[in-house]
Amino acid sequence: MPRTRRFEPGLRLAGLALAGLGLAGLCLGAFSASVRAGSGTFDADHWRRVFARPEYAPMPTGNATTPEKVALGAMLFEDPRLSGDGTVSCATCHQAELSFTDGVPRHEGHDGQPLDRRTPSLWNTAWGLSWFWDGRAAGLEAQAAEPILNKREMAGDVRRAVEILAADASASRSFARAFPEDPTVTRDNILKALAAFQRTLVSPETKFDRWVKGNDDALDQDEMAGFRLFVGRARCVSCHTGWRFTDEAFHDIGLPGTDPGRGAVLGLKEVDNAFKTPSLRERVWTAPYTHDGSLTTLEDVVDHYADRVIERPTVSADLPRRIELNATERAQLVAFLSTLSSEDPPRPASLPARTIALGGDAQAATTFVGQKNRRFTPGAVLLKVGEVLRIVNDDTRVHNVRIDGPGMSVNSDAQNPGDTVTVGFDQPGRYDAICGVHPEMRLTVQVEP
Ligand code: HEC
Ligand code: HEC
Repeated sequence: MPRTRRFEPGLRLAGLALAGLGLAGLCLGAFSASVRAGSGTFDADHWRRVFARPEYAPMPTGNATTPEKVALGAMLFEDPRLSGDGTVSCATCHQAELSFTDGVPRHEGHDGQPLDRRTPSLWNTAWGLSWFWDGRAAGLEAQAAEPILNKREMAGDVRRAVEILAADASASRSFARAFPEDPTVTRDNILKALAAFQRTLVSPETKFDRWVKGNDDALDQDEMAGFRLFVGRARCVSCHTGWRFTDEAFHDIGLPGTDPGRGAVLGLKEVDNAFKTPSLRERVWTAPYTHDGSLTTLEDVVDHYADRVIERPTVSADLPRRIELNATERAQLVAFLSTLSSEDPPRPASLPARTIALGGDAQAATTFVGQKNRRFTPGAVLLKVGEVLRIVNDDTRVHNVRIDGPGMSVNSDAQNPGDTVTVGFDQPGRYDAICGVHPEMRLTVQVEP
């Protein structure tokens, strides 16, 4: 039964900080992919546009990716002095030769028991919209504090690490070079340097990129058949889209297990069992797979999608049910997935960094916003104080509208297809809205006096 939920001016609810909005707009353009998937025809030019690699790596305002900072971050990434007992560094789990993973389903924590989730690869993490399998970190800078402090990971004490590094003349010099405007060892500078280093971990071009660039012979027959299945009947592209092969959204793909994932972060049972869609770049080097490391090979992953999806209410609306795939087709899908990986252990590609400007959409003077195909339409609206905005879920998926702005923080909870969220604005200013399940959905509301 469709519902309308009203949010009156001045209403305050716990809202999610809209950090990381500087990266808005990055994923736009990838969406037409889901519209065409499933249609029988194969439009090579269309897919070449969808999967084209970017020319720049994004960086936020306030933490430019400079060579000095990257060098410091690379050093800190391998420095066990950030951990409580001086034995664990980021690189203990994120090992460069394993594409920044560790080769085990779940790394052993300080207490000798496996951690709750698998160590994810760090390739192309600069393009993220949220971090961790459940998206609980809103920025790469904020993210790094967590493993340092986590009792089961590095069990560190940032204040002590700052003291140790400040007492080390060579480390202090590196901080001074990296942060000329603030040449000291501080918690913030440690986190900024780690983030700047990680933004340079761009996966290199592979066989598939040669096809994207126009070489029709780059993929052999089986790889090409796998690609057609991927964007066609198997509908993998509904979620694994764009050059990194992720929509940055949260989905339940029907794996067994009791970890609530995104549902616990949002406090919404409708999104239980949902995890962030992982990139598919360099996966040949990052086994085992999924958030709990329960699938050992790429073949197992394909078998899961074909035969083993658990039916439950939270399973993603974007997941096709009962795809018939014979043994040849499964092998073709795996062959295609392999073309997204380097043939030798990959080394980071060098890509210049740029700050990404917000917005793009012209502001429309309307009080009605749709959400079809995981997109706020229009993406920017202009209102007058006192006007009421209606955000209608005319999509097939559950959304979760969150709006932050002057004196207001709105959380719609689960917004099912057909539900309308209405919000009144009684203060001028700029408001930013996202969907908690599909963080690539962005809406700006400018309210004029
Ligand atoms: C003991 C192993 C371990 C150590 C040490 C460790 N990590 Fe991780 N890392 C993990 C695990 C496990 C996750 C996933 C946790 C989750 O999603 O809940 C993760 C997630 C991440 C992510 C999120 C990636 C994404 O795509 O969402 C980043 C970035 C990251 N770690 C960077 C670091 C940095 C920087 C350090 C050092 C300060 C570090 N890690 C230390 C195991 C580790
Ligand atoms: C509904 C969205 C969706 C669709 C459709 C989808 N995936 Fe996924 N995929 C995900 C999510 C989410 C995960 C992580 C799930 C988890 O860890 O619980 C994932 C995990 C994976 C992984 C493991 C990656 C890793 O690093 O652990 C591979 C490989 C993969 N998918 C390939 C495919 C293929 C091939 C298809 C088509 C047959 C497909 N996916 C269809 C969302 C999707």
